[in-house]
Amino acid sequence: MTRTIPLSAPWIDGREEELVLEALRSGQLSLGPMVDRFEAVLAERVGSPYVAAVSSGTAGLHLCMRLAGIGPGDEIVTTPFSFVASANCALYEGATPVFADVDPQTLNLDPAAVEAAITPLTKAILPVHIFGYPAELDELEAIAARHGLAIVEDACEALGAEYRGRPVGSSGRPAVFAFYPNKQMTTGEGGAVAVASEEEWALLKSLSNQGRSDSGEWLTHARLGYNYRLDDLSAALGLAQLERLDEILAARAEVAARYGELLAPVDGVEPPLADDAEHRRSWFVYVVRLAAGVDRNGIMARLAEQGVASKPYLPSIHLQPFYRERFGYREGMLPASEDASARSLALPFHARLPAGDQERVVEALRRALE
Ligand SMILES: Cc1ncc(COP(=O)(O)O)c(C=O)c1O
Repeated sequence: MTRTIPLSAPWIDGREEELVLEALRSGQLSLGPMVDRFEAVLAERVGSPYVAAVSSGTAGLHLCMRLAGIGPGDEIVTTPFSFVASANCALYEGATPVFADVDPQTLNLDPAAVEAAITPLTKAILPVHIFGYPAELDELEAIAARHGLAIVEDACEALGAEYRGRPVGSSGRPAVFAFYPNKQMTTGEGGAVAVASEEEWALLKSLSNQGRSDSGEWLTHARLGYNYRLDDLSAALGLAQLERLDEILAARAEVAARYGELLAPVDGVEPPLADDAEHRRSWFVYVVRLAAGVDRNGIMARLAEQGVASKPYLPSIHLQPFYRERFGYREGMLPASEDASARSLALPFHARLPAGDQERVVEALRRALE
């Protein structure tokens, strides 16, 4: 049997073991100093004055809806080409996600489509830096300013990315990061929200800690909150990963560059969009686009036979069964997103993917395409 090359894998090393053990031995497994340290180092890293750690990216997005005062009847303009959580967060608060189509090149929100989707009910724009490629923040900022809207950035896939020379997370608008094990860095489960003010940070800390009041009284609840806390073991793991983040990101970029070289002579496969002066991608996944008309399911089956994992990445949110049923979405409504969803294929990708495995992946893909 051929060994299967997995889609992703975290990179855990001695420092991770050391810090997690330190947290374990400290006896403080929650609400302890590791979370404070993690927040401080992450804030520095993303160029934001404050970061609040939370239990997942989804939890962070949900809390940002609360920060922005989103409620029943409100509309959020967002992208259909994303992981479902970036739209679900609006539904959690009784608001409606309204989808604007993406730019076919960047696969991020097309600002003109955003403008066209705005109604008197719109309260916020929620761009996603999909696959770690920064969205058009300045154009979206201008639209938000014209219409008096909030912006919440879904940066769950984009830790380390840069937009116009600035780190994603430093815009002054709330930005949400996620640390599931397939991400650039992991805490197991976990997430974080970067915010510009101490007030927002304090509100996030309260909301993620059952709405506890600022007085510190354990059983006094000032507002409706949740248990969205990140525990100290997870924070310790994240702290070690943050210390090594440059190394991890550089290794991922190297793997991506090697795929670029290996795939160049293969017909029928389009590599991910390259960086330009304004957009610096942080490599989260390696997603290629197959030529129109290629039988993707057949390709995936042939890759699997050769021990190569792959995934259609991502399905458009508006065509998820639940969204079709609830909102009546159908094929053809958001053509750029649907085309990307129909033709994209994620290949095995992580920081320590050996060159030999990458060669195997590309050779398997070339044969599958024959
Ligand atoms: C774009 C996007 N948004 C939100 C999330 C949700 O993050 P989590 O899985 O940590 O809840 C993810 C990650 O899965 C994501 O990729």
